[in-house]
Amino acid sequence: MLNVLTYMKEQVDHYNAMLKGSSPQEVLSFFLENFPGKVAFSSSMGAEDQVITQMLAGLGGNCCIFTLDTGRMFAETYELIQKTQARYKLPIKVYFPDASHVEDMVQSKGINLFYDNVDNRKLCCHIRKILPLERALQGYAVWITGLRSQQSPTRTNLSVVEWQEPYRIIKVNPLLAWDEKQTWDYIYHHKIPFSSLHTQGYASIGCQPCTRPILPGEDVRAGRWWWESPQSKECGLHSRKA
Ligand code: ADX
Ligand code: SF4
Repeated sequence: MLNVLTYMKEQVDHYNAMLKGSSPQEVLSFFLENFPGKVAFSSSMGAEDQVITQMLAGLGGNCCIFTLDTGRMFAETYELIQKTQARYKLPIKVYFPDASHVEDMVQSKGINLFYDNVDNRKLCCHIRKILPLERALQGYAVWITGLRSQQSPTRTNLSVVEWQEPYRIIKVNPLLAWDEKQTWDYIYHHKIPFSSLHTQGYASIGCQPCTRPILPGEDVRAGRWWWESPQSKECGLHSRKA
């Protein structure tokens, strides 16, 4: 008898084969049609996520769009949440971390603990991002993200559809094959609102204390946790093992 993990991996292989060569809109509409009311999209309000929000709006918006507010976001991100909701008339659900977890962490390790060492940084990401993500995905069967292969060496081997065992959910990355130019051409062509931080040298935007602008020629994620080695530069949202 097949166990659930093997079955889901086979399902995912089947979806990838079937959707090979499909556009991001075709991928999105396949999952919206086949999993009605069970699709959730996590938006960080970054460029790729703004593209997906516009596509979802065009497809009727039958999807939960949510963002994780860590409590350490840029003011520009809050402005964009407001602007995007108004533009597409779609609610964006905001998830916050558990207040007592944050209070205990800050009391024992300090408000800017993440600069001290990688373990502290991962703890902060766990409390402020991963636990709220777990809550946000509960009850959904499909999780849409704005990941692109070219964003990082840790993302080159991803597939458009994946089984995420830690969250027990089908993860869909419709823009995986897009490059940066395609993303920005699409944004300009459709006049999609984007963060003003992108015009100030920020390529990838996360929390304010852990993100800085990049220099010309630098990797798009070079400004994230810039004080760490490239190997540790994932918050765990997409690299969680269990
Ligand atoms: S991260 O893991 O390093 O933070 P990145 O900023 O590249 O990820 O974003 C990749 C994808 O992760 C986004 O397209 C989005 O789907 C999801 N994501 C990242 N941060 C958030 C957030 N704060 N809220 C919701 N989704 C997020
Ligand atoms: Fe904390 Fe920085 Fe991770 Fe945000 S990115 S959750 S501030 S360590």
